[in-house]
Amino acid sequence: MSRVDHLLGVMTLTEKIGQLTMAAAGSAVTGPITGGNILALIRSGTVGNLLNLVGPAETRRAQRVAVEETRLGIPLLLGFDVIHGHRTIFPIPLGEAASFDPGRWEQTARLAAIEAAADGVSLTFAPMLDVARDPRWGRIAEGTGEDPGVASRYAVAKVRGFHGAGLDSATAIATTAKHFCAYGAVTAGRDYAPVDLSDRTLAEVYLPPFEAAVRAGVAAVMPAFTDLAGVPMTSHSSLLNGWLRTGLRFDGVIISDYNAIAELVMHGVAADIVEAATLALKAGVDIDMMGDAFGRGLPAALERGLVSMEHVDASVRRVLRLKERLGLFDRPYRDAATTTRAAIGEDARALARDVARRAIVLLANEGTTLPLPATTARIAVVGPLADARADMLGPWSGAGRAADVVTILDGLRAALPKARIDHEPGVAFDDAFARSAPDQMAAALDLCRSADVVLLCVGEPAAMSGEAASRSSLDLPGRQRAFAEAVLDLGRPVVAILSSGRPLAVPWLTDRAAATLATWFLGIEAGHAIADVLLGHHAPTGRLPVSWPRSVGQVPIFFGQRPGGRPVSRDKRSSSGYRDFASTPQFPFGHGLSYTHFTLSNAVATVSSGTMAEAVDIRVDVANAGPRFGEETVFLFAAPGPSPVSRPVLSLKGIGKIALEPGETGTLRISMTVGPSERPLRNGVLPALFVGQSADTAALLDVVRG
Ligand code: GLC
Repeated sequence: MSRVDHLLGVMTLTEKIGQLTMAAAGSAVTGPITGGNILALIRSGTVGNLLNLVGPAETRRAQRVAVEETRLGIPLLLGFDVIHGHRTIFPIPLGEAASFDPGRWEQTARLAAIEAAADGVSLTFAPMLDVARDPRWGRIAEGTGEDPGVASRYAVAKVRGFHGAGLDSATAIATTAKHFCAYGAVTAGRDYAPVDLSDRTLAEVYLPPFEAAVRAGVAAVMPAFTDLAGVPMTSHSSLLNGWLRTGLRFDGVIISDYNAIAELVMHGVAADIVEAATLALKAGVDIDMMGDAFGRGLPAALERGLVSMEHVDASVRRVLRLKERLGLFDRPYRDAATTTRAAIGEDARALARDVARRAIVLLANEGTTLPLPATTARIAVVGPLADARADMLGPWSGAGRAADVVTILDGLRAALPKARIDHEPGVAFDDAFARSAPDQMAAALDLCRSADVVLLCVGEPAAMSGEAASRSSLDLPGRQRAFAEAVLDLGRPVVAILSSGRPLAVPWLTDRAAATLATWFLGIEAGHAIADVLLGHHAPTGRLPVSWPRSVGQVPIFFGQRPGGRPVSRDKRSSSGYRDFASTPQFPFGHGLSYTHFTLSNAVATVSSGTMAEAVDIRVDVANAGPRFGEETVFLFAAPGPSPVSRPVLSLKGIGKIALEPGETGTLRISMTVGPSERPLRNGVLPALFVGQSADTAALLDVVRG
């Protein structure tokens, strides 16, 4: 008899429900608090899993109670959000996405897993796979932007990275694909708000990343807080039991989001905690995160025959199987270090710096403002984010510590030790808004007047990004705009450095600054990475993973829209668009400048026909026609042919990258598959393919049938 079958045969109901419960251990980033009641709850068998407990000593203490002081000695799952690094904090996922580099996405997850496992973590609530097309939603920061294909590639890379050599390896941490699903489509960009979508959009945009994660072997899935067309995801049986478990044969664990089962009462679909527990368990949810809904509701639900013991056992079995796959029964302490956390290693910092550089997107660069000449003698570094430390970690930095951060000012001073680098914030972030007495501006403006160049470091405090941080505006919060315009009015060359968890609609700034960098929140190596790009030690290679609006009034705005019968047109009155404003983004998906320029030529597509789909291999020559080294990212878009339903005007089908020295030419090969819905039904000729830096600058290429 298997261990799991044996345990199921001897467990009491309390012990079974304990395995379906995950309690928060109250750990703060600076140190866990495993006070009395958590250890008592573990000892009694009513809590079989924890979240938010990190640190070798703390996790060992809790695990030892579970293994040595309970009747059956079942080890705990120890969950933690490792969203973009554990101790070594990398750029937020939206920034990491800008590198379009699955190899590095996997690398950062691998390093994070090693650090988290050493801290006793065995399960992480990542990767976050929510496609987001509305920057008002604060959690756009935690995902990879607007395209499902990018999110799908990210899913595979992160599952591989976190799992490493396999879940039973000491440095693996189990992954959770979240938030299932369509959380990024919340009404009006308000977090937790209802979601309404067509089945087609659900199937083509929001489900694919979760399918990719399941096929890559993700260990768990977390339903979103939201409802979809009135059905809360936490009790959405047709998507959980149906699409996920039956359709994709997903046999992993489904973990509710924080207190989400109990919140079914607030959704209005459950009269009380008993009905909430019943709905969630029968829909396929296995673990109740921090809600105690199963603990309070399942005994009565069983008594009233609302659920059966088979339902309970099926969930307990999946939880125990995950603990077995992680090797917790044999090695409950896994790779947890015996000492406290080591300092961040140089290799880790080198990776963090490399990945941060590649997250930076050069949005605009007048002439050759950037890179800054090495002879730049006097620089004014101003703005509330110039010397910000904690903000560089972003809104969800787990075990990261502000003390480990290299600020923008630090990085500049390290890179230009001989230059005079003066700093004044000008305005300060105060309770998440940039309010300050005018006199702080005067001091900053004085510095700018006599500087060779001004680095204007503005954006959002990290607290205005991430969960429960939706905004109604995409402008700079607080008094930053007044300050920035005063700086611009001085007439000195201004380089705007934007730090944010979302695209910011600031055309008034980007049109006037001599250059603008989107730097997201770059993590512990922010300052060095920004200095590397500003000084040309690293050519900017980042590309926008999300359309960058001119105004919040354009939102949602994304490249994969259907044309409608009267597409956007500047010339025709009866066309889709605004009477008072442009309809195009300020910077399109895929946009990003470098310090050189590239030309594309000789694109040839060879097609090998299949039954359900056609494999298309594109070969295109790329030349570096500019003065400096650069890396080009080529996006392959497919335009639809006639089809029974209207299709998005562009679909991203492939991405290729090539690094070239000045004058060098190389050949990129990108392959893609074109499904039946993307081929005209009539003559089966492939649609036109776009190849280029981004949808709006792409050159339309005829497809040559190979
Ligand atoms: C949350 C988040 C989820 C996270 C969980 C545990 O509120 O929605 O993403 O994994 O809590 O911290």
